[in-house]
Amino acid sequence: MNKNDTNKMEKIVNLCKRRGFIFPSSEIYGGAGSVWDYGPVGVLLKNNVKAAWWRDMVQLRDDIVGLDSSILMHPRVWEASGHITAFHDPLVECKKCHKRYREDYLLEGKYGEVDTKDGKPHCPDKKCNGELTQSKQFNLMFKTFMGPVEDSASTTYLRPETAQGIFTDFKQVLEVSRKKLPFGIAQIGKVFRNEITPGNFTFRTREFEQMEIEWFCKPFTRSNTNKGTNTNKHEKTSDEWHKYWIKERFDWYQKYGIKKENLKLRKHSKDELAHYAKAATDVEYKFPFGWSELEGIANRQDFDLKQHEKYSGKDIKYFDQDSKKKFWPYVIEPSGGVDRATLAFLVDAYEEIQNSECRMQNDNSKSKNGRKPGEIVLHLHPKLAPYKVAILPLVKKDKRLVKMAKEIYDEFKQFWFVAYDEVASIGRRYRRQDEIGTPYCITVDFDSLKDKAVTVRDRDTMKQDRIKIKELAGYLMGEIC
Ligand code: GAP
Repeated sequence: MNKNDTNKMEKIVNLCKRRGFIFPSSEIYGGAGSVWDYGPVGVLLKNNVKAAWWRDMVQLRDDIVGLDSSILMHPRVWEASGHITAFHDPLVECKKCHKRYREDYLLEGKYGEVDTKDGKPHCPDKKCNGELTQSKQFNLMFKTFMGPVEDSASTTYLRPETAQGIFTDFKQVLEVSRKKLPFGIAQIGKVFRNEITPGNFTFRTREFEQMEIEWFCKPFTRSNTNKGTNTNKHEKTSDEWHKYWIKERFDWYQKYGIKKENLKLRKHSKDELAHYAKAATDVEYKFPFGWSELEGIANRQDFDLKQHEKYSGKDIKYFDQDSKKKFWPYVIEPSGGVDRATLAFLVDAYEEIQNSECRMQNDNSKSKNGRKPGEIVLHLHPKLAPYKVAILPLVKKDKRLVKMAKEIYDEFKQFWFVAYDEVASIGRRYRRQDEIGTPYCITVDFDSLKDKAVTVRDRDTMKQDRIKIKELAGYLMGEIC
């Protein structure tokens, strides 16, 4: 990270803490090691990210249904899925300071320069430089016990992905939803991974949320009809569905405001594919700390359904009415992190007014559209913004203005999260709303008492419109919804 990028990340972390988006968990005890809490404004933003995904992926589609499966599952699930044997990272430990590192990250230089003078990598902490142990495989699943007895029979795990609940419930969901291939099951939920080196704020943490779709489709390819499972030449193959989902998900982030130049696709090489995947492509975002994965879209083939049938002994195949064949569908999986998406939306929306921009405007007040250097604006998409509008009576002491403002507030909070602020000058109140990304500020002033209209200020253009109160909901509805 260069100095500017480090600064930008630090500023975003500070803003998040100062304005109540995100702060360290259990901070009064010194923090809990890379786990984070979303404050009053952050929880609204994160909920809006999830709601936007759920609306686009489930509500507006006839071919995807939702699910909320449990975090604790039967321990055999993790044997079948391969997580017990294959879900690990290579770990090395410093013999002197006992810090632990991921060996692959160490060799890629992600912890900084590493001393290899004697042919062996040493502790990347320059002051220590101790010898490192041989690498060993470290399983990332959190172990726990189900019930009051702590023995091997009661050992289970906190789920490391939401996907497995979808696979184990596949047959049930199929029966109750009466869906035919191709169709998807979507789920949002908490997952846990005992990451060796979490970091970069909420980018890599030990507890996070995923939004995943398992998209079930027929397994044939163009050259292989796979035992006659394709009955219609217009049907997409699993590879074609894979391409479809890569594009859908790449476009989704742009729909909610992420700039195209800050997004790219990265195809996985054969040697980095997960144990279940035939192919995978990541949507990456240009974070201040470098291009990094936002979401992975994998072709999981029929790996999981086959495994669960083998381990559970239950037939969970799909029966195709058209071909009269029974088979395990192939699975395309768009799997994104809620916290990473939220962070990307925050980073992309962040603007700090620069000195140079104000000079370019060449006006006396040294301001950009009336904003001064150092001021912060979050240009969040209105659908994601924590508050859609802020209601501001011009003068706190005037009971008539406060009454009118509160009436608007009471009406609008039935539809949206609305902020109400009567403290400090109107300029400072605008600034406070800019910092948390509120798209519209509504000021009730003395003219409002006569003309029954208010001033609506647009966060991005700074344009101010005078709108009749009775037309306000319709005006905002068009802008926000
Ligand atoms: N079911 C497939 C799966 O879990 P993954 O690539 O391991 O695939 C999917 O995870 C997404 O979950 C990632 O693209 C990322 O957005 C998010 N994610 C993974 N590990 C994370 C971590 N330690 N902290 C925050 N988000 C993480």
